Amino acid sequence: MSVLRSVVLGCGSYLPARVVTNHELAKAVETSDEWIVQRTGIHERRIAATGELTSDMAVHAAKAALAAAKIEADSIDLIVLATSTPDQTFPASAVSVQAQLGIHHGAAFDLQAVCSGFVFGLATADSMLRSGSFKRALVIGSETFSRILDWNDRTTCVLFGDGAGAVVLDLQEQPGTREDRGVLTTHLRSDGRHKGKLYVDGGPSSTQTVGHLRMEGREVFRHAVSMITDVVVDAFKATGYSAADIDWFVPHQANRRIIDASAHKLGIAPEKIVATVDRHGNTSAASIPLALADAVADRRIKRGDLVLLEAMGGGFTWGAALVRW
Ligand code: UT7
Repeated sequence: MSVLRSVVLGCGSYLPARVVTNHELAKAVETSDEWIVQRTGIHERRIAATGELTSDMAVHAAKAALAAAKIEADSIDLIVLATSTPDQTFPASAVSVQAQLGIHHGAAFDLQAVCSGFVFGLATADSMLRSGSFKRALVIGSETFSRILDWNDRTTCVLFGDGAGAVVLDLQEQPGTREDRGVLTTHLRSDGRHKGKLYVDGGPSSTQTVGHLRMEGREVFRHAVSMITDVVVDAFKATGYSAADIDWFVPHQANRRIIDASAHKLGIAPEKIVATVDRHGNTSAASIPLALADAVADRRIKRGDLVLLEAMGGGFTWGAALVRW
């Protein structure tokens, strides 16, 4: 029996031009290239130009995704923009993206699940497509974390960067077999008891300021691998797939050690890992589509491949998705 699925038609990404290396950071705070590479795998990150907004980067990524999908912007009727660094408190940055793409119909909104934002956005758009409310969606992750970093805090400022990535989802009838393309399953979790371990110390309702990112890195690290593996196991159980069936593992790009430890615990072979964290650091909601776009561009991820996505971040929030490309 045929089923409706959200099929990925294309993906794209954008990184701002300015590269900031570990060596450059070591001139500003007490750190070293060696420490950063050893603890995180990060070599450099990108920083948005003055006046370059989250919505601007999202538009670049969206245009690249539309071009890859070979479709016109006005066939999109849903935009879900995952971000924790919107242009303004409101309106949603998604409506700026919608306007810049020349789309005047459908709906556009922001979604906030910090580093899990892209997986939450994918799950949300997938549900809204399959419910019959919309036909074609852009799911975007775009972040300017450089604007909420405390550049004097070496424990956080070396970890994050700016960037954007996007995918186009199209509602299509699939045969309802193991060969089905599209989003096969999504699993979302959150647990607010951990909200003080990774947060921004400002906001409109509390301080009337934007605030700075604060993190108990060791505590986040401690929870990350078990939360990630739990939710991936849920995705395997729901579909009957196992680690051996996965063609590509595209995790949230926060720390190479977390990525490798999660893959190891799940039994995913190292050569199936897509890692771009070395080149852009932790770009929060943008990191998964940045990695996806990289692996699609160099033809690692091909039509028919089984791709596992996962993320974990502030809240805590965490989630996983299985997608047949
Ligand atoms: O997207 C989800 C959100 N974030 C994450 O996933 C991040 C999760 N956490 C991590 O990735 C790691 O915990 C970090 C990379 C943040 C830190 O690595 P760690 O191995 O957990 O190091 P640590 O926090 O235990 O710090 C070790 C030492 C400390 O010195 P003492 O107390 O041992 O003397 C830190 O003060 O390293 C020191 N340190 C630094 N040294 C040089 C902390 N930051 C730096 C730095 N450069 N930038």
